[in-house]
Amino acid sequence: MAAGTQPTVVDWTADGRGVRVLDQRALPHETIWLDCRTTPEAVEAIRTLAVRGAPAIGVAGAIALAAAAVRLAEALGTPAAFAAAVGADAAALRAARPTAVNLPWAIDRMLAVGAGAGADPRAAAAAMRAEATALRDEDRAMCAAIGRHGLALVRDGARVLTHCNAGALATAGIGTALAPVYAAVAAGRRVAVLANETRPLWQGARLTAWELAQAGIPVTVCADALAATLMRRGTVDLVLVGADRICANGDVVNKVGTYGGALAARAHGVPCYVAAPWSTVDAATPHGDAVEIEQRARDEVARPGGLAIVPDGVPVENPAFDVTPAAYVTAIITDRGVHRPPYSFT
Ligand code: MRU
Repeated sequence: MAAGTQPTVVDWTADGRGVRVLDQRALPHETIWLDCRTTPEAVEAIRTLAVRGAPAIGVAGAIALAAAAVRLAEALGTPAAFAAAVGADAAALRAARPTAVNLPWAIDRMLAVGAGAGADPRAAAAAMRAEATALRDEDRAMCAAIGRHGLALVRDGARVLTHCNAGALATAGIGTALAPVYAAVAAGRRVAVLANETRPLWQGARLTAWELAQAGIPVTVCADALAATLMRRGTVDLVLVGADRICANGDVVNKVGTYGGALAARAHGVPCYVAAPWSTVDAATPHGDAVEIEQRARDEVARPGGLAIVPDGVPVENPAFDVTPAAYVTAIITDRGVHRPPYSFT
């Protein structure tokens, strides 16, 4: 999966009546494509992380809602019944995961286009269908732009520490945090990636390692707890992570563990960059403490791979994301450029 050759991990089904995703629950062992032709199937795919990563769930939500509109326009005669059913599906998709702003952003965009197309359900569905395809293509273009803007930050020989997976598997393009890595490699630079394993769902170990290995880019998986030591040893040149939401003040919400990495980076003088498309910037939310952090199931921590490692009855904390205060972020790379504090995202 070298830059430019990544598979599209979220797209329309071949018949145009649903959303097709690469089922990331099965990686790295199996490559399985999952076709969701009902809204509950799409909600389940998002909720269970078959498709994941903020940009990818935005694209998945958009295609799922547009596909629902196409199906509903055929089945439901009256504009009122169509609008009510599309609204219900939009609410279900929006609620699938609460933290990444890309999902409600994409759903709102689809609803606005549908409403703007007039009362005829078939016209609304056609407009939503075109909009979902455009949103997918824009995401791909934004990833490429992030790569171009971030290229200067990844010099020849760079050792990049990343957390979770913010690569091609998390977007419709070449990724966000990994986009500058792909761009640097395409420019002939040697880059080595240190991938935090990313407990409890192992997106670093399972997904980032798989994706980079496919691309032939050197990658080493590290226990999350090792990150600070690697920085103290001087074996990390930069930290490069993605985001699920970037607030107006520059606070970054991303996979739990990002904050600890940013703290360690600051302590050891390592720059910490966040890369995200403009669709992840939420200028309406003032700071990170105003963001709903998704709380996930106990068993993700207590029973990894089905093996019980926490005594019965002992509670577990499992927030999927954390907040990195803006003060610990060196700069934010978007498709519009490299932003440094003080931020102005309006
Ligand atoms: O729970 P996940 O796997 O969806 O979390 C993903 C992340 O935290 C990513 O870093 C973020 O969505 C950016 S993906 C380009």
